[in-house]
Amino acid sequence: MNKSRVFSGMRPTGALHLGHLAGALTNWVDLQEKYECFYSIVDWHALMSNYADPGETRQNCIDILLDWLSTGLDPEKSCLFIQSHVPQHAELSLALAMIAPLGWLYRNPTYKEQIQNLQNKDLSTYAFLGYPVLMAADILVYKADKVPVGEDQSAHMELSREIARRFNHFFGENLLPEPQTLLTPTPKVPGTDGRKMSKSYGNSLYISEDPKSLWDKIRTMITDPAREKRTDPGDPNKCPVWDIHKVFNKDPEQAKEIDKGCRTAGIGCIDCKKMLNAHISAMMEPIRQRRVRYEKDPALLTDILAEGAKRAKVVAQNTMEELYPAMGLLPLAP
Ligand code: TRP
Repeated sequence: MNKSRVFSGMRPTGALHLGHLAGALTNWVDLQEKYECFYSIVDWHALMSNYADPGETRQNCIDILLDWLSTGLDPEKSCLFIQSHVPQHAELSLALAMIAPLGWLYRNPTYKEQIQNLQNKDLSTYAFLGYPVLMAADILVYKADKVPVGEDQSAHMELSREIARRFNHFFGENLLPEPQTLLTPTPKVPGTDGRKMSKSYGNSLYISEDPKSLWDKIRTMITDPAREKRTDPGDPNKCPVWDIHKVFNKDPEQAKEIDKGCRTAGIGCIDCKKMLNAHISAMMEPIRQRRVRYEKDPALLTDILAEGAKRAKVVAQNTMEELYPAMGLLPLAP
């Protein structure tokens, strides 16, 4: 049985929210059934922008793992591991650096944008410029066929393919297969203020959050500003609560009624928020139960990571053993 191979990664920069759930994790969980999946917590990538203040990276790795496991990523089905535990990522990154043209890296739109936007951090480092080289190594070291990512990673994926092609050009056709992007149908999940859900906006609903705290956030959300009184009709298209309904409300009949009820002042905002909360609660309940189980057992988490790294290393080491002679390096005498 030869399943296609999937690789994807997330940087351990903090707790994951419902945007990550709807935009990535739900899809990752589904992919487990069809593919051989490698999911990595890419701590080297986090360090590229956090190097001046790395104190939370360790805890962030554990938190992300808990978020992953609780949403249903299953260590029996997928290989779950920490990037730095598999040194072949760093090793292949160096090998790819031999052929990665500086021009490609300077032209990377994500690089330009991050240097502009994160002015409080000094990102003019050698490693940060090479972010896409390490990302290419992550994928290519497993010869992954498919990489589930959002639109924002398209430029990085194109670079991964170009780097693979150029490596093959110098060192041997088909050494590193070009990976395909598996574009995640990402519903844009808005946060509690209507802007895109993002930790830095303080508008997030977290995967690890308890029901009461989720309800408090939903209850106090702003709605259509023109709907001041319960008797005023509202416009769902101007309401962030409705935007979240559109992602998580799985009951089209009810959604239709809410839309009509809002426009005719048949229902109040609190009624609408209670219905949204019910949908989110139902979705979160199994997630919460899995989390409780894993949280009780820190040794289990360590075992999962050790097992994941062990499995990943076998594949990654195999790739490196093919590449060394192809690159013309002198093998160590047996
Ligand atoms: N750059 C990705 C992000 O910010 C994270 C990442 C690193 C990744 N290596 C990867 C994603 C390899 C897919 C494949 O989301």
